[in-house]
Amino acid sequence: MTHSVLVAYASRHGSTRAIADRIAATLRECSVDATVLPIDQVRDVDGYDGYVIGSAVYAMRWLGEARSFVRSHRATLRRHPVWLFSSGPLSTDAKDAEGAAPRDAASLVTEVGARDHVIFGGAYDREAPPIGLMERFMSVMPAARDALPNGDFRDWHAIDTWATGVAGELELALVKS
Ligand SMILES: Cc1cc2nc3c(=O)[nH]c(=O)nc-3n(C[C@H](O)[C@H](O)[C@H](O)COP(=O)(O)O)c2cc1C
Repeated sequence: MTHSVLVAYASRHGSTRAIADRIAATLRECSVDATVLPIDQVRDVDGYDGYVIGSAVYAMRWLGEARSFVRSHRATLRRHPVWLFSSGPLSTDAKDAEGAAPRDAASLVTEVGARDHVIFGGAYDREAPPIGLMERFMSVMPAARDALPNGDFRDWHAIDTWATGVAGELELALVKS
């Protein structure tokens, strides 16, 4: 039987959306029926066998819509296998990644009994039009803006490996239940 997974994500500039799309594509390669949606477009959270939920990290937190989604659907999510991912660190150095880790991730993991929370490197384009107050501020304060490393730090191999692991764990979890 084909298992279904909702991959829901929160992204400001699109790099987390591409990670979510890639996770969904890898799940499909593993014969999982993956639906990928921006978190604020999820109308019906019920009816999936498992959930992968991810957010970009800004100022050491998940985006508000992702935090609200997890909290408001925790009763449903707790009854199913859940995996969380964050997309953020503008570095491939694990130490930098630790320093910029989302502060709320541990509580979100506990809230839904997530099986894993992984942090993937993110991407930042200094020339992209600013979104939100913080970025507008940064756009007029070049010193602040230029303090952020520019570039794409997403590790597609790590993302594929993780998503393949999710497919395997999902299969095991559903066979046991
Ligand atoms: C203003 C600003 C603040 C950021 N703060 C963090 C942070 O605290 N921790 C982190 O890991 N990454 C941080 N980042 C990096 C973003 O998480 C990264 O660019 C991510 O890939 C953006 O995802 P998106 O394109 O889906 O919006 C920040 C980026 C910006 C522009």
